[in-house]
Order: sequence, then C-alpha cells, then structure tokens
Amino acid sequence: MDTRPETTPRRILFVCLGNICRSPAAEAVTRALAGTRGLTLDSAGTGGWHVGKPPHPPMRAAARARGYDLEALRARQFGPADFDRFDLIVAMDPDNIAEIERQRPAGNTTPVLPFTGYAPETGARAVPDPYFTGDYAGALELIETCARGLLARI
Ligand code: 4NP
Repeated sequence: MDTRPETTPRRILFVCLGNICRSPAAEAVTRALAGTRGLTLDSAGTGGWHVGKPPHPPMRAAARARGYDLEALRARQFGPADFDRFDLIVAMDPDNIAEIERQRPAGNTTPVLPFTGYAPETGARAVPDPYFTGDYAGALELIETCARGLLARI
C-alpha cells in the first residue's frame, strides 16, 4: 500500500537558464536514482537560445562518466503553462526562481524551490552554472547530492 500523502509531488520540473547543462542533468540523475517510483520528470530553461538542442557536449560527457545518459534530451523553454503541468518546480539558482516567479499565473500555488534546498549539508545556495565555470564534474556531483535529498524527502 502506498502510504505517502496525496500531496506527494509526482510531476517534477527542473529549471535552469539554458536547459543544456544543469536541469537536463538534474532530470536524468533524478530519473536514474528514482528507479521505478513512477515520477514524471522533465526539464526546461528560462531562456530560449538552445531550444531543440541536446545537452551541451561536456555536460553529456561528465554525465556519461558517472553512468547517466543525457543523449535523448532536447532543450525547451519554460513557460507559464508549466505551473499547471507540474506539482513541483525545482530551480538551479536564485535567478531562475525570480524568472519563474515572474511568470506565475494568478492564483497558482505550485511550489518553486531551490534544488540545493534538498542538500542543506553542502551549504550551497545554487548549482553553479558549468557553462560559465567549466566545472561539469563538480556540478554533476552537487546535482547527485541534491537528487538524493529530493528523493528522500518526497
Ligand atoms: P544551464 O547553462 O542553464 O545550466 O543550461 C547555460 C547554458 C547556456 C547558456 C546559459 C546557461 N547560454 O547563455 O547560452
């Protein structure tokens, strides 16, 4: 019997800026770690520059090195309709949260939470953007920690 509360989020959207580095990795890692839990997972970017493209090659390589497959994912842009499509929106950094909240439809109450909030032991306030830092392995490690925390709390 499933004893989890009815409010358990089953449709979760991960959001970053470009949807080619952090959020597709978060989607794929969470999917792999969730196993057969029956979650609907997706990712999107607040920006539209890379719509239709696969994740950034160095992100794909870093993921592959740790056993995650990002090959089938394609970037898409976040939009207001996503508030109704998902039970929980998980953002990679505070700028993402500000941009998501700016688009919240009147009356919508879908939670928008920082991914790093699921890994308080790390002290991280954001998943640093490897597109700018170059640290893809470090981002992936933090994403794994956050994903484990998320799955332990829902
Ligand atoms: P992401 O990284 O938000 O983790 O996908 C970025 C990728 C591309 C750009 C920005 C962030 N860009 O400006 O093209």
